[in-house]
Amino acid sequence: MQWRGKNVVITGASRGIGRSLALELARRGARMILTARSRPELESVAELTRSLGADTVVVASDVSAADSASEVVAAAAGQLGGVDVLVNNAGVGLRASVDQLARADLERVLAVNLLGPIAYIQAALPHFRRQGSGLIINLSSLAGLMPVPHLGGYCATKHALVVLSRCLRAELREAGIRVMLVHPGAVDTDFRHHSLGSPFPSVPGRSRVSAEQVAVAIARAAEDGRDEVFVRPLDRVLLATARLLPRRRDRILLRRYGRTGVRP
Ligand SMILES: NC(=O)c1ccc[n+]([C@@H]2O[C@H](COP(=O)([O-])OP(=O)(O)OC[C@H]3O[C@@H](n4cnc5c(N)ncnc54)[C@H](OP(=O)(O)O)[C@@H]3O)[C@@H](O)[C@H]2O)c1
Repeated sequence: MQWRGKNVVITGASRGIGRSLALELARRGARMILTARSRPELESVAELTRSLGADTVVVASDVSAADSASEVVAAAAGQLGGVDVLVNNAGVGLRASVDQLARADLERVLAVNLLGPIAYIQAALPHFRRQGSGLIINLSSLAGLMPVPHLGGYCATKHALVVLSRCLRAELREAGIRVMLVHPGAVDTDFRHHSLGSPFPSVPGRSRVSAEQVAVAIARAAEDGRDEVFVRPLDRVLLATARLLPRRRDRILLRRYGRTGVRP
């Protein structure tokens, strides 16, 4: 798939990975609807994408609100003339041991990380089916593929998104609509600072990729028609090793994520 001329909906586009993806796709010739809750941040991203030549529409919206998906997708259809790609990127973290999970926090991460993407998929699918093509890109995480102690609530939402995306891919295989899953490891964004629950520990020496690296990996993987995206080849190796050595994995991750965190 080529990005030039494609109409792309990006949720969570006000900062982090969503912002970098908007800029990367603007350079590749896409047109876009950017959404997140904070309008001023969205407008400053839109200023940059427009300066790169991309038609850009901004809709401030909370993905967990009942009418968010239908409003945003209708804006794409009405103002850009259609929707070709949906990127479910908006997400929120939650750090708490399972016995300390607060129901309200859990409901919030489920609403943003799982129910929001489902609603956006359901809103976009009629457009994709009518045109016989479309691409759904869901941002999961390595934490959706392996257990991370103290991130159980977050892992559960991302694991659910992984399984849901793979079911959807099978359902849509004959319809010409693709479903791509992205599994980043740690990314250098403000994600941890916006997470619910207790503060994330800072992990000295932990290697993080940049949001720009994730954006380039997503853009290229879509062009290459890939289904599952690991940002670094090393991430696949880490995952395979973690599966082979589950007790060692648990010890290492518990040392890393069980430490006391500090709110910046
Ligand atoms: N950073 C990492 O280490 C990492 C690793 C693996 C996977 N991921 C995943 O990658 C995605 C992007 O993460 P990021 O690192 O870019 O995080 P981030 O910097 O915190 O950005 C999150 C984006 O989502 C938006 N958002 C949050 N809640 C929302 C809501 N209720 N409605 C609409 N928009 C909402 C935020 O905008 P507003 O606050 O303006 O609404 C922001 O644009 C997430 O799905 C995350 O789970 C991140």
